[in-house]
Amino acid sequence: MFIRYVRDRERCVDCGFCETVIHCPSPKCCIGCESCFLGCPYDARKPVSDTQPRDKCRIVIDGLEFEVPERITVKRALEQAGYRFTRFPEKDALFAPCNTGGCYSCSIIINGELKPSCHVGVENGMIIETAVEGRTPYRIVEGFSPHSVGGVGTPYWLKMGIGYIEVAAFVAGCNLRCGTCQNYHVTYNSSGLPLTPTEAAANLTYMRKRFHVDRMAISGGEATLNHRWLLEYFRELKRLNPDSRARLHLDTNATVLTRKRIDDLIEVGVTDIGPDLKALRVETFQKLTNIEDRELAEKYLETSWEAVKYIADNYYPEKVFMGVGIPYNKFIHPNMDEIYEMGLKIADINPEIQVCGLDYRPEFRKRDIIQPTPEEMKKVKKTLEAAGLKKVIVQTSRGHIGP
Ligand code: FES
Repeated sequence: MFIRYVRDRERCVDCGFCETVIHCPSPKCCIGCESCFLGCPYDARKPVSDTQPRDKCRIVIDGLEFEVPERITVKRALEQAGYRFTRFPEKDALFAPCNTGGCYSCSIIINGELKPSCHVGVENGMIIETAVEGRTPYRIVEGFSPHSVGGVGTPYWLKMGIGYIEVAAFVAGCNLRCGTCQNYHVTYNSSGLPLTPTEAAANLTYMRKRFHVDRMAISGGEATLNHRWLLEYFRELKRLNPDSRARLHLDTNATVLTRKRIDDLIEVGVTDIGPDLKALRVETFQKLTNIEDRELAEKYLETSWEAVKYIADNYYPEKVFMGVGIPYNKFIHPNMDEIYEMGLKIADINPEIQVCGLDYRPEFRKRDIIQPTPEEMKKVKKTLEAAGLKKVIVQTSRGHIGP
């Protein structure tokens, strides 16, 4: 069965997001890529069954000829040819975690050029190669900007000052589907220019000099999705910033941050990591992230907690600074029970780990919620401290409250 996505006139507010931030790879005839459906801030795209007759396309994949229907993505054509795509990195599978054309993890070579298979329509005569090792990776970088409070992995004593403390690169594409996405202009951006790691590292190094800071961060979207790109990016950033004052900071949801990936990142120079732990219970995780596949949600959640423990046991605090984020809003946590349990679990790993409560405000598709008040966030802080944590900070509408 084929699906195409159409505008839901009842919901559409003509915000222009689907024309300026999201890049439609085939405006004249929908190829069912989903990027407008997943990224519309007003949930104003709906799937309808596409029963129009289709011709066949003849394509070549890794040297073999295949016949596939027209008006589908290259990713779908590959699936029809027997290739497997996953949303958690696995050996012998192609990795397609964002499915919105931002992360370029699903990139393959199409007619000689590296392109994201989830965001390109199949065409008659296409030559596709799935082996990309040795090719320079790309990723959409939404932008670079200076920051006065930093991210989850920024030490609290820096957040309390004035002026810029960090510069950050923001990369597109995320594997989660949070209705409260606090950075959705970045996450669903598929219209930006794809950059090589070298280009991105050079831009951020320039920003460091321009804003006279030593901290260089990467956030998103989810920075860890395209591992090859990220490793080359940090390697180049380190080469351009060899001085001991330079701090290389990664903010992440940690859901695909496996032990091997952590080791790789630290080896190329990462000094600060900020895992944003979405929840403790899988039901809460699913409610917040809209990952419907329970098995996948469990895998993501388990990987993120394991990442925190692995970093704490092997690298923190000597080699890496780690600050953990916990999102809070009444719609996620009607009471403080799970917050307290998360506090207990982190304190059991190491009570000295910095934990920051994040006040999730109305954003993206969850505009009907109310931003927690500073008083509510103080309650979050007290709850986490009662669980045994020693360095708790909370983000509030009036700034951060420190330990
Ligand atoms: S999965 Fe295709 S670009 Fe991210």
